Amino acid sequence: MAHQIVALPGDGIGKEVTAAALTVLRHQSEIHSLDLEVEEMPVGGSAIARHGQPLPDFVLEACRRSPIVLLGAVGDPAFDSQPPHNRPEQAILKLRKELGLFANLRPVRAYPALLEASTLKPEVLEGVDILIVRELTGGIYFGQPRGQEEREGARAAYNTEIYYDWEIERIAHSAFKAARLRGRRVVSVDKSNVLEASRLWRAVVEEVAGQYPEVELRHMLVDNCAMQLIRRPLQFDVLLTNNLFGDILSDEAAMLTGSLGMLPSASLGRLRDGRAAGLFEPVHGSAPDIAGEDKANPLAAIASAALLLRHALSMEEAAQGIEKALEEVLSEGWRCADIASSNTPPASILGTRDMTEKVVERLR
Ligand code: IPM
Ligand code: MG
Repeated sequence: MAHQIVALPGDGIGKEVTAAALTVLRHQSEIHSLDLEVEEMPVGGSAIARHGQPLPDFVLEACRRSPIVLLGAVGDPAFDSQPPHNRPEQAILKLRKELGLFANLRPVRAYPALLEASTLKPEVLEGVDILIVRELTGGIYFGQPRGQEEREGARAAYNTEIYYDWEIERIAHSAFKAARLRGRRVVSVDKSNVLEASRLWRAVVEEVAGQYPEVELRHMLVDNCAMQLIRRPLQFDVLLTNNLFGDILSDEAAMLTGSLGMLPSASLGRLRDGRAAGLFEPVHGSAPDIAGEDKANPLAAIASAALLLRHALSMEEAAQGIEKALEEVLSEGWRCADIASSNTPPASILGTRDMTEKVVERLR
């Protein structure tokens, strides 16, 4: 039986890197005799341009029918002046909510070949292997009330950080389960010295930890965590965060890998009818400044395709095949512009298509 996948390339470099990820997926499915059927649809700015909305109903319906989604990136400055509910980013937020994708996994690994591309010292980075587990459908991103209004003669705006115990519980389980398969250490991030929502977070995480005696739990305040991440990243194994803190810390952690262009992500959860759902996307954005120039680094999108094989289709070997091919390409010295250093010979700096080709040649 064929596996149905919905591909949402989106905006800017999202189109190029999704094409790259699909090329790799197609080759890998041949090698591993996987029957994949891919349906491509518009999302974000490209959907606004054609259908007047960032996430048209027929696109959401397609994702509900086949809840394995490969996404590129959304965001287009042409639509920055749209009302808030019609901005390209809304598509992603709505997809997360509607598909029930509460667990966002962002693996951060410092590739030995790229230590030089980071702004940090190589000795601080060697061996870094962190999994950020970010809550994705709650907190201040979705909390009510929210709005903008006149208050006491001034312009005011507000958002609500709210968490229910069951939301914290389920993401904590995701983190502890992941930790069991890795280094068995969880650092839970909060701001419990100031925020009520963080005090509940800490209390519930503590309760869940009781069910995982083999995993060590530490709590860390978010400001300290931001500092520790660049001071001594090796201390982290699994980093458990709420929606907002995870957004910020994952961009910071990306720099441990040398470039935001290297970070894949998986968003996992369940639809209301109980079926499993997964959305796989690079963490980087649409980079409109280099869109369409064959300059974008496709490796994060390609690594996201590997996560799709692992988490949505349980094809561990095929997933590792992609990840190994990617590592080989890097250790052989091939780079995209964003991960090149001053020592990289210009002939080793590849565009999107050539880089993709290098990965394809090494698949197994
Ligand atoms: C991310 C992005 C999104 C977020 C934006 C595009 C809404 O920054 O996935 O990290 O804030 O979650
Ligand atoms: Mg972000």
